[in-house]
Amino acid sequence: MATPESLSDPGPEDMELNQRLTYEPAQKFFHWAMAIVVLSAIALGLWSSFLVPGDPLRKALLDLHKSFGFTAAALILPRIICRLMSRASVGQPEPNRLFRLAAHGTHFGLYALMILMPVTGYLFSAAGGYSLPWFGLFHWPRLVDESKAMSLAGKWLHDKGAWLIYAAVSAHILAVIWHSVFRRDDVLWRMLPDWRSDDETPD
Ligand code: HEM
Ligand code: HEM
Repeated sequence: MATPESLSDPGPEDMELNQRLTYEPAQKFFHWAMAIVVLSAIALGLWSSFLVPGDPLRKALLDLHKSFGFTAAALILPRIICRLMSRASVGQPEPNRLFRLAAHGTHFGLYALMILMPVTGYLFSAAGGYSLPWFGLFHWPRLVDESKAMSLAGKWLHDKGAWLIYAAVSAHILAVIWHSVFRRDDVLWRMLPDWRSDDETPD
């Protein structure tokens, strides 16, 4: 398998090689675990926003939403450490500078939102005196005093952040579809488990 350094700054001559390189297994694990957790949190948060406060279903959805949100919070630090320790840089097989910048920007934005959303959700709920459950197993500690102002600030940021994460995740998934359907390159495969046999991968 080629060294991940070759992913860092691909020129056109590296295209063929880059198209066969993949992310490291730990990065793949964190990517897909986080994708499931964040997409679940988004779906539950969005669903709950269509229900009126006081509806028992809204409370149940939000309890589950918070549990996924806390799971994202627990995963993000090990994920970032793993990303920083990995020798592989983002490694876009994208020769167009503007598209490469857009991909880097979206990835950076997604990392920022994976920190911002749990933090603002926590401030909103903890300072508002609301529950902090984790899948019915235990409650997370309340590290801040109850404060209406802090809770409202957390809610405002969480609600605005929700729009940003809808946009960033949609752009991210549409970009992957565009690569797979129109460019027909290997971007999606780089993030999937490597099922290819040894003689298909470069040494
Ligand atoms: C990755 C983590 C998270 C994501 C992506 C996320 C996303 C969302 C989204 C999309 C909504 C719907 C926004 C709307 O009302 O239009 C929402 C609402 C909400 N979230 Fe989160 N959230 C996360 C973590 C958390 C955490 C950790 C908590 C609390 C401990 C939390 C508490 C809430 C609450 C209480 C609402 C209802 C907001 C309202 O009534 O306006 N969230 N979240
Ligand atoms: C069905 C959903 C998803 C698919 C198919 C998908 C696919 C991919 C692929 C193929 C890459 C590699 C891109 C490249 O090398 O240029 C990637 C990277 C990335 N994805 Fe996703 N993704 C999905 C959902 C998500 C979600 C929900 C998040 C976070 C909220 C996310 C965050 C990221 C980040 C931060 C990277 C950059 C990884 C790094 O370089 O450290 N993805 N994704």
